[in-house]
Amino acid sequence: MARKKIVAGNWKMNKNLFEGKQLVEDILHSGIELRDDVEVVIAPPFISLEMTASLIKDRKGFFLAAQNCHQEKSGAYTGEISAEMLKSVGVDYVILGHSERREYFGETDAVLAKKVDTVLAQEMKVIYCCGEALQIREAGTQNAHIQTQIENGLFHLSEAAFKNIVIAYEPIWAIGTGLTASDEQAQDMHAFIRSLLAQKYGDAVAQSTSILYGGSAKPSNAAGLFAQPDVDGGLIGGASLVAADFAGVIKAR
Ligand code: PGA
Repeated sequence: MARKKIVAGNWKMNKNLFEGKQLVEDILHSGIELRDDVEVVIAPPFISLEMTASLIKDRKGFFLAAQNCHQEKSGAYTGEISAEMLKSVGVDYVILGHSERREYFGETDAVLAKKVDTVLAQEMKVIYCCGEALQIREAGTQNAHIQTQIENGLFHLSEAAFKNIVIAYEPIWAIGTGLTASDEQAQDMHAFIRSLLAQKYGDAVAQSTSILYGGSAKPSNAAGLFAQPDVDGGLIGGASLVAADFAGVIKAR
């Protein structure tokens, strides 16, 4: 089955409401023509979700993502946001397990597995991030590391539930550093991830799961990455904050 091509912009903790509105409008007016199999996903901070939802609602191919959510359904968790709240403002996808969440907020695979369930229970999709640090890449153990993250965070899911999962491979050494994985490094890891999915869920699921690359992707390197057979799109940080750059990455898809 043909899988979706996805370009997702992860704004992280950038852009206030007014700047965010301008950015979404600029993206929508940048003359992008999406093929039917391409989705653009915008992941602004929580305060800009509703505004973004209303701006993109009539634009075919545009979807909304949150950058995180709490694992519990509701309750005394001051400062947190639940999956149900995200659903109520029109969120389609939730990014989970970004390396910044893992590193700065102590999110473990066990917590992430719960978050995955909470998001799926609200009938939203998950963009599940995995990625290795530089020392792991230098030691050559990156495949085992990614396998553990994927098994622990996702492999409790049924085959039916797994249809709502998108995977983002984001080598930590390439995030925000200007260092991109080479086309070949990205392809090798994506093919490895797809082989894990095939072993666990069978070939049909493996072939229909979108696997995105993230880490200093930008207009000048996106075409090479996206040309790889197992790279289905990108999770874009820095370049998603400038409308022309984000549009350039989308056009490469
Ligand atoms: P970057 O971030 O494109 O700025 O490297 C990607 C990400 O962390 O999602």
